[in-house]
Amino acid sequence: MNDDLNNQYENCDFCNKSKNDVKKLIVGDKVAICDECVNLCGDLLIQISNATINSGKFKDIDPVELKEFLDEYVIGQENAKITLSVAVANHYKRLNNTNADLELAKANVLLLGPTGCGKTLLARSVARYLDVPFTIADATSITEAGYVGDDVETLINKLLSAADGDVEKAQRGIIFLDEVDKIARKGESTSITRDVSGEGVQQALLKIVEGTVCRVPAAGANRKNPQAEMIEVDTSNILFIAGGAFVGINDVIKRRAQGSGLGFGVDIKNNDEASLQDLEPDDLVKYGMIPEFVGRFPTWVGLTELTEDQLIYVLTEIRNSLVAQYTYLFETDGVALTFSDDALKEIAYSASKRKTGARSLQAELERILMPHMFSLREYAKSQITEVKITSELVKTPQKIAA
Ligand SMILES: Nc1ncnc2c1ncn2[C@@H]1O[C@H](COP(=O)(O)OP(=O)(O)OP(=O)(O)O)[C@@H](O)[C@H]1O
Ligand SMILES: [Mg+2]
Repeated sequence: MNDDLNNQYENCDFCNKSKNDVKKLIVGDKVAICDECVNLCGDLLIQISNATINSGKFKDIDPVELKEFLDEYVIGQENAKITLSVAVANHYKRLNNTNADLELAKANVLLLGPTGCGKTLLARSVARYLDVPFTIADATSITEAGYVGDDVETLINKLLSAADGDVEKAQRGIIFLDEVDKIARKGESTSITRDVSGEGVQQALLKIVEGTVCRVPAAGANRKNPQAEMIEVDTSNILFIAGGAFVGINDVIKRRAQGSGLGFGVDIKNNDEASLQDLEPDDLVKYGMIPEFVGRFPTWVGLTELTEDQLIYVLTEIRNSLVAQYTYLFETDGVALTFSDDALKEIAYSASKRKTGARSLQAELERILMPHMFSLREYAKSQITEVKITSELVKTPQKIAA
């Protein structure tokens, strides 16, 4: 670059601006570039290098390690933990697949099980472990396009937000569709009226589960690119995990087995857990899921109602256990909280009677501990430094007399 050359070049070769309109025109052998274009190119290079980082490989997931992680948070549900760990590990293998000739099929997972047995907890715990964007969406909040409520694009938008607006990352994420049983087609008698919340929603979800290019508003999702109004997100690599209680599915399974003409030969187990193992895709269709939707979830796994022993574990053993939480609340007022073994059994027993799984444990504890929590300051004044919950105090919660 020298003054002779500088005089020779009047305009930027990239944007054609005159050298009088820019701060500096940098001149090379046969080309000139202005300071503005240099800055633009710099930004572009940063964007490219970010994109390369993001589309890079994910670290491989060892299903055994993921399962061990899940064990810390979720009691029981061995099958579900193993199935989910494998599904997630395979999802990562698909993303990292470099063999262009071999396309690995997506294996979306469906979790079935009674209320309060840990479906949502499992999904949340998986999310905690992963470094791909993850979002949980309630199927009941989704409506067909055109109706009031969220449409399926909102799901993708949530995932995009979870990926900090990075489309590449979002396209490799995981969406947990909770409460899918609630979008089952209603009974045949009501199918004449337009089914706003059920079949239409399944149809709409089908598109994104199958893989489609969604156009979602960029607003808020991508701060780096405020001008862009709509962003295209390809959903074909997004893994879907669906969960639902499917209340009554056991009856569908039993009816099918009994009605199959085999009659006496079929060994129908009475226990619900066993019958979930006999689940066939057809049963889900009878339940009200559309066949195409069922077909998109090749892996399903049943979760079981928690036993009383497992409920005791939920109370005491897992991370953030309820007992640990309440012990802390008591501790802040200088009172040690303990439970007798009988008391724990009693709590698990009355929680299991409510048929809402582990969900009722917290309500039980609140009921039992309320008189004490109300009196904690009073305990301190009367030098009561320990509350031991016995089975009597479980049956008839009352404060300790000073
Ligand atoms: N297997 C489990 N291990 C530990 N805690 C559990 C387990 N199952 C349930 N819980 C506790 O019960 C609460 C409710 O569980 P969760 O939300 O996972 O139920 P769900 O199976 O999704 O039920 P629903 O069908 O009603 O949505 C959780 O917050 C958790 O504290
Ligand atoms: Mg749930």
